[in-house]
Amino acid sequence: MTTPRVLITGGTGLLALNWACTVRDTWDVVLGTHQHSVQLRKTSAVKLDLDDPVQFGHQIDALAPDLVVHTVGLTDVDRCEKEPDLARHSNAEIARNVAQAAAEKRIRMIHISTDHLYPGDHSYYQEHDAVQPINEYGRTKALAETWVQSTYPEALIVRTNFYCWGHSKRQSFSDWLINNLREGRSLTLFDDVYFTPILADGLVLASHELVDKGACGVINVAGSDRLSKYEFALLLAEEFGLSADLIRRAQLAQSKLSAPRPKDMSLDCRRAEKILGRRLATVADSLKILRRQEVEGRRQELLEAKFS
Ligand SMILES: NC(=O)c1ccc[n+]([C@@H]2O[C@H](COP(=O)([O-])OP(=O)(O)OC[C@H]3O[C@@H](n4cnc5c(N)ncnc54)[C@H](OP(=O)(O)O)[C@@H]3O)[C@@H](O)[C@H]2O)c1
Repeated sequence: MTTPRVLITGGTGLLALNWACTVRDTWDVVLGTHQHSVQLRKTSAVKLDLDDPVQFGHQIDALAPDLVVHTVGLTDVDRCEKEPDLARHSNAEIARNVAQAAAEKRIRMIHISTDHLYPGDHSYYQEHDAVQPINEYGRTKALAETWVQSTYPEALIVRTNFYCWGHSKRQSFSDWLINNLREGRSLTLFDDVYFTPILADGLVLASHELVDKGACGVINVAGSDRLSKYEFALLLAEEFGLSADLIRRAQLAQSKLSAPRPKDMSLDCRRAEKILGRRLATVADSLKILRRQEVEGRRQELLEAKFS
């Protein structure tokens, strides 16, 4: 039997590289790149022309993937606020181009969305709750969902918030916590901003399983715990044997962030869990896996991945 091929757009990003690590033993992974290329063991990389759906269609024909995972995004929330046209292009127009090409070729597609779509006025948002983003990042990601769904109704659109190991060009939220705490630097975390984070690997495996089960449309895939950023930092410090005394509390209202942020981004994942027939992992269990990944070399491998 031939190994199925997955094309991951945004191939130099945090999620794409962790996605590749999770599935590369069972999938032929092609990392679709933009400004830079990247070398990662047991994967290949190809520069994609995502600005032009026709050119991208030709590339899809040549690559013949069985699955396209669209992770491209302008993820800097404050930059999206300052450069709304670029945010709209990177987050929404490109997603529509990818959906168009995937739909024409009838290639399964996973589109990665966000939990940044709501005002944060309650907890555990469900898939059918009205989307009401309060910043440009959220607005452009919401537009992407609308366009992907209308262009390719069979695409799976995953709303999420993940943590993972970063690389030399970009550290993740969990890297930032670990690196600072290991250096003995104190950190300030919001104790009034809530989310339901999932380890990237859990997100990857659940997303593949959902596609295998024929799921499509919008589905929340996040962790099973709702906790504040401050509480997450405490759990991480405990798992990694780092000093919790360095972790200070702060409130969102006191911050100087330029783009508005929702105070509650928690996602209700019961729909995904029903289809999967299992609970999604707790933060405590997932942090153990993150720790094990470091011991097994994931962190080092990603830090040493060569970008050109
Ligand atoms: N990080 C999180 O916690 C989080 C939470 C919820 C949802 N998400 C979503 O998850 C996805 C992946 O996030 P991430 O953190 O892995 O992102 P990331 O590390 O910032 O990587 C983004 C990728 O998108 C590419 N890209 C950006 N603009 C592009 C453009 N105009 N054309 C083509 N490629 C472009 C970048 O390539 P270049 O650098 O070469 O331009 C990079 O490979 C995004 O869709 C994001 O919205 C992330």
